[in-house]
Amino acid sequence: MEEMKKGLEGVVALDTRISYIDGIQGILKYRGINIEELADLSYDIVSYLLINGKIPDYEETNDYSRMLKENRQINGKLIEVLKNFEFGIEALDSLRTAISCIAHFDEQNNHHTPDANKNKSIRLVAKFPTIVAALHRSSFGKEPIQPRETLSHGANFLYMLTGRVPTELEAEAMEKDLILSAEHELNPSTFSLRIAASTLSDMYSAVICGLCTLKGPLHGGARKGVMDMLDEISNPGITKDYVLQKLERKEKIMGFGHRVYKTYDPRARIYKDVARRLAIENGDTYWFDLAEEIEHIMYHEFIEIRGKPIYPNVDFYSAVVYKYLDIPAELATSIFAMGRVSGWIAHCMEQYSDNRVIRPRAHFV
Ligand code: ACO
Repeated sequence: MEEMKKGLEGVVALDTRISYIDGIQGILKYRGINIEELADLSYDIVSYLLINGKIPDYEETNDYSRMLKENRQINGKLIEVLKNFEFGIEALDSLRTAISCIAHFDEQNNHHTPDANKNKSIRLVAKFPTIVAALHRSSFGKEPIQPRETLSHGANFLYMLTGRVPTELEAEAMEKDLILSAEHELNPSTFSLRIAASTLSDMYSAVICGLCTLKGPLHGGARKGVMDMLDEISNPGITKDYVLQKLERKEKIMGFGHRVYKTYDPRARIYKDVARRLAIENGDTYWFDLAEEIEHIMYHEFIEIRGKPIYPNVDFYSAVVYKYLDIPAELATSIFAMGRVSGWIAHCMEQYSDNRVIRPRAHFV
């Protein structure tokens, strides 16, 4: 039997046309297009690109956006279920249960035709933000806010969360966040989703596998970890001691390091720029300055002293963006999933289109 690679490091498990990462040069492309270019488009266009393999033309964009808007509503039965959740449980756990519920309400749940899968993909992308916003509001005993058709995917989410139409920059930040979170090759959640899809399980079940895997603090849960860390550092005077003491205890600093990138994560650069602009618009650079200080300390400790390539990853400055958008830390992973769902669906469909069950071996000791 072949040599075992712990954590499957460096193992190539499948071919994909969905995204490409060069972890040495810091390049990320979805369907052949650089992330820097994609970040300036709308989430609807990027979602279509991931799922359908091409940038939509004008008519296709309008059709896709219209279908997403028509499917944003969630039904009354689901809202009743959400109201009965015991709060105090993590938001992602509620989201996972809610996605199971919408599968129950979808009569095409166990239909596996390409048309049924296309319909399910639209429902999933469209309903995720409505569910996350409704879950959050009902945890405070508040009624959900109806989606607004005139707002973009990201702006509508912020509106449903707070009842306030976001500023232009806030809306742009949310769209960019969803785009930057939308896809990342064979990361743990996507891999787990592809395993589920490879057994020919349905799309909802596969997405729930993705959600469960995203939750962990070494993956999507790190975004909440960064927000918690920013709160824990109660004043900038203690930042250096805080970071060094954590490293001494061999604890990880959330939002740093990556299995594939051995350089600056290209998404982190874009997030950093958005965070800086939000800080300026808000007239309060506290969170941005604090994050930049942590980055400088980490650079000194890892790059300059230890010669180890530990840079900010996607979760570091996204957490700062959430701070400025007034997003509570407990929603961070669920919002990550709102973006990632398009990439998950693309991988689910790619797996179905050329399937062989994913079943590696273990080395018995
Ligand atoms: N803080 C401190 N040390 C770190 C960090 C970090 N964030 N990341 C890696 N290191 C150190 C490790 O302690 C280890 O040191 P050692 O060689 O002395 O044992 C070395 O760098 C290699 O780290 P591993 O954890 O073995 O690297 P791996 O490729 O398995 O893990 C991971 C990558 C999980 C992302 C890791 O860097 C980490 O835990 N980071 C913090 C959590 C995080 O931000 N996760 C989000 C990743 S992006 C995403 O999934 C959306």
